[in-house]
Amino acid sequence: MKIAFIGYGNMANALVSSILTSKNITLSSDIHIFHNKNKDIYELENCKFLQSGQDCENNFDIIFLCVKPKDIESAIKENSHIFLDNQTIISVAAGITINSIKGFIQKDVLIARAMPNLCAIFNESITGLCMPSNMNYNTKDLVENIFKNIGYVRKINENEMHSFTALYGSGPAYIMYFIESFIECENFDSISSDDKALLILQLLNSTSKLLLTTKDISELRSKVTSKGGTTESAIKVLEENNFSEILEEAIKSARKKSIDLSK
Ligand SMILES: NC(=O)c1ccc[n+]([C@@H]2O[C@H](COP(=O)([O-])OP(=O)(O)OC[C@H]3O[C@@H](n4cnc5c(N)ncnc54)[C@H](OP(=O)(O)O)[C@@H]3O)[C@@H](O)[C@H]2O)c1
Repeated sequence: MKIAFIGYGNMANALVSSILTSKNITLSSDIHIFHNKNKDIYELENCKFLQSGQDCENNFDIIFLCVKPKDIESAIKENSHIFLDNQTIISVAAGITINSIKGFIQKDVLIARAMPNLCAIFNESITGLCMPSNMNYNTKDLVENIFKNIGYVRKINENEMHSFTALYGSGPAYIMYFIESFIECENFDSISSDDKALLILQLLNSTSKLLLTTKDISELRSKVTSKGGTTESAIKVLEENNFSEILEEAIKSARKKSIDLSK
């Protein structure tokens, strides 16, 4: 299996590590990585780093597109010499459709799209994966396994990519924002702000673990929200201020932005 990457940032780093440590992939040459840095600043065993556009002789089976959406067209055109008919192309670029990518490449390639999230950097991504129906079973299996190595994979249709991006792609940042707001609440004489942040993360961690073993989240929340108690009082304020509607609006806005960026 011959694999190339265009772009070497956060996502490419996570995916290259996944491939190099995978038991399911036998590489028949170094992974070739086309980057746009001026000097050869990268060095990694079993990888060959090239300048974007640099000549090379390999016929790659799979090419990963790992540049920002705004750079995808120029990156493909700069490296047009490495694209061949029948290759598998995997794009992680948010909002760029399979049709657009096909238009830039202008070869008879099969294109899969993946939407990982930031947590890919420590193999805890939630990745939405969309693969064409005419891709053969072995290739589909291989592609799915590469993303399984960086976390959880959910197969979706391409028209669900915008919603997936809005919820799970951008999701880590919403959680960070939520935690930032939590950190702003209440001050303690005996707990430093760093310790307070740690306690809030522990709260999130332990609640997630509890919920992973819970069938009905709403039912559990009702149970722990005693009538006339402190929790009920706080939740009433959230409800009066339309917390759920605000969240829904925010995610709809991200979805709309993803659609706009794809045009
Ligand atoms: N990070 C995430 O959480 C996340 C989640 C889901 C999807 N994605 C998608 O993954 C893609 C990559 O994101 P990332 O976070 O890995 O971005 P990144 O860290 O900025 O990596 C992209 C790399 O591509 C380089 N590049 C730009 N033009 C190039 C060219 N013509 N040839 C070769 N390399 C070129 C960039 O160099 P410069 O820095 O010099 O421009 C940069 O090093 C994006 O399309 C994004 O939508 C990211």
